[in-house]
Amino acid sequence: MLILGAGPAGLTLGNLLHASGIDCVVLERATRPQVQARSRAGFLAANTVRILERHGLAEGLRLRGREHATCEFRTEDGRFRLDYGSLGRGERHTVHPQHELVTDLLTHYLDRGGRAYFGTEALTVRDADGTRPTVTVREADGRTGTWRSRYVAGCDGRHGAARRSIPPGAVRRHHLDHGLSWLGLLAEAPPSLDAVAYAVHRRGFAGHMARTPEVTRYYLQCERGTSPDAWSEDRIWDELALRMRAAEYGPLRRGRIAHRAVVDLASDVLEPLRHGALLLAGDAASLLSPSAAKGANLAVLEAELLAGALIDDLRHGRPEGLAGYSARCLAHIWRAQEFSQWMLRLLHGAPGPADESSFHDALRRSRLASLATSRSCQDWFAEHYVGV
Ligand code: APR
Repeated sequence: MLILGAGPAGLTLGNLLHASGIDCVVLERATRPQVQARSRAGFLAANTVRILERHGLAEGLRLRGREHATCEFRTEDGRFRLDYGSLGRGERHTVHPQHELVTDLLTHYLDRGGRAYFGTEALTVRDADGTRPTVTVREADGRTGTWRSRYVAGCDGRHGAARRSIPPGAVRRHHLDHGLSWLGLLAEAPPSLDAVAYAVHRRGFAGHMARTPEVTRYYLQCERGTSPDAWSEDRIWDELALRMRAAEYGPLRRGRIAHRAVVDLASDVLEPLRHGALLLAGDAASLLSPSAAKGANLAVLEAELLAGALIDDLRHGRPEGLAGYSARCLAHIWRAQEFSQWMLRLLHGAPGPADESSFHDALRRSRLASLATSRSCQDWFAEHYVGV
């Protein structure tokens, strides 16, 4: 079994297959230190924690993860908080930075004899519609090699070889460009408040998400095409303070901006999530906007579903699981997409002509008012915000 990519999807899958005695190899383009240092997401849904605990992969997050159950909205109509841990199904997030989760998963996999090759970039996947697909790779020393396997799991993200190798027309691509861009920032500063904060402002959206006691994630909505380096650190902090209404609700705790990147918000779903013996999971299968922190949680969920289907097929000769894999994942993916879309509309006006955008703006303010005042709306929000 070949797994392309050592991210949350690939490493969860590798651990589950290896634990069931299925010989698998993870091929990863980056080096091991790069994989373990890459700071991405950090909010694990309750279901993700349950999956990791079910398979003995939760030791690190149990030791270092921190429960989180409050979010705050700051808008032109005031500020309100939702203690979502006491709403809906009463589920909470566990804050466990992704580079720590990936390190936990990778260490667990390698310590138990799992095989992974770093600095090994998959170039193409061929003959996926046959019974022994071939993966051409560029080895760490620059040589080209090939791997063959009964199945290939494409867990190599949005720009990986798996997606590229699917022939045009073999799968349907559902794509939506939200027309929005966020400047994502990692600040070497403690959180400015004890909640995830979503600030809605006429100048644009701003977000605050704790990562660790020393590092905090911020987002600033920016014009499409903005260069990550266009803004000075002072301008970034001043704009964050303005949009988060720091003068009214308290100052932000500033620090060096250690990492910045502009993300153009777009969503993408492939259907089905496979092409013959090439099976997709995680960002290779579908892309979400970061508005609801679902990406890594979907990746772990899909990896568990795919592992179960592959074990049924390879160990027990039951192909039904693989036949139903795509449909089962797509049901979860579309619910996550729908909620992420709802969150985007809640936090941003809509691009478009003035009269339309003023209409959308009024809808946005009404949605926020419902969320601030209606218990049933808050229960719905809590269930979808933490759920996957
Ligand atoms: N060959 C081998 N490895 C590759 C290739 C390739 N051609 N292309 C990409 N990779 C590796 C990347 O270096 C990365 O380590 O595949 C891995 C993909 O990991 P992620 O991008 O984290 O994707 P996934 O595991 O699906 O996790 C999805 O986690 O990163 C968060 O929130 C983010 O939604 C995202 C979620």
